[in-house]
Amino acid sequence: MSASPVPTAVAPGAPPAERLPVSLPELAEKKRLGEPLVMITAYDYPSAQVAEAAGVDLVLVGDSGAMTVLGYPSTVPVSVEEMLMLCAATRRGLRTPLLVADLPFGSYEASNEQAIATAQRFIKEGGAEAVKLEGGGAMAERARALVQAGIPVMGHVGLTPQTATQLGGYRAQGRTGARAADVARDALALQEAGCFAIVFEAIPAAVAHDLMERMEIPVIGIGAGAATDGQVLVFHDLLGIREGVGARFVKRYADLQAEMVAGVRAFAEDVRTHRYPAPDHTYSIDPDELLRFRDLMS
Ligand code: KIV
Repeated sequence: MSASPVPTAVAPGAPPAERLPVSLPELAEKKRLGEPLVMITAYDYPSAQVAEAAGVDLVLVGDSGAMTVLGYPSTVPVSVEEMLMLCAATRRGLRTPLLVADLPFGSYEASNEQAIATAQRFIKEGGAEAVKLEGGGAMAERARALVQAGIPVMGHVGLTPQTATQLGGYRAQGRTGARAADVARDALALQEAGCFAIVFEAIPAAVAHDLMERMEIPVIGIGAGAATDGQVLVFHDLLGIREGVGARFVKRYADLQAEMVAGVRAFAEDVRTHRYPAPDHTYSIDPDELLRFRDLMS
């Protein structure tokens, strides 16, 4: 008897209401079929609605939100409570893509018990379906403990922003033979620990290419070349909602910050020159009621 096919979440051309929620088996099936996986970050209700309407496969409530929406200088200071609020808001705007939440720095590294307790909050309170953690080494043990506790885990190797200081800054990783072997060891340990998928960030395309031969789980790249099973970009980078050109791997598909500034500037100009509000933007009152009002006020 042949296995029944995994239902496709995003049937090409299907209206959003007809799509099925993306499942873990479906992601594995897409890898097997060589269908590219699309992930973007989201941090709130409107960005989640955009991701839903665009039909992506996965949405990551990345701790990059610490910088893009909360204005911190890095991902390190963001708290579990702050990430939970971003995650729950994203959940409310999302129906179809698989929702993955980043475990913030300091919320999972100390012990398996700490990792499980934090991850359970993201599942129960934040509405996430999976969590992501950064790094290999002891983090593979955390990933294994989470999987054993019934929580799907996405790994993240290469440039891991939470420990960027230790890595020498926000720079590509695995650019010597020995460092590339370190990245490979971390990726394989996370795969072996039971992660359902993994992010490769900022590693040479050739290293990612060679590693793909050994990766049985979906690999989502960001600055890791074209050989990975999918790609992720940060919402604010791809839509041009923050200043600066960003990392080498960022491709901008819109310049929304410029459009938003232009819109607010036009509003300010209209207010200052009395062009807004126009009669179309105002409410009327029955003339008799207006007379009554004036009588009452005299
Ligand atoms: O926090 C984030 O946005 C991420 C992606 C860059 C993968 O971890």
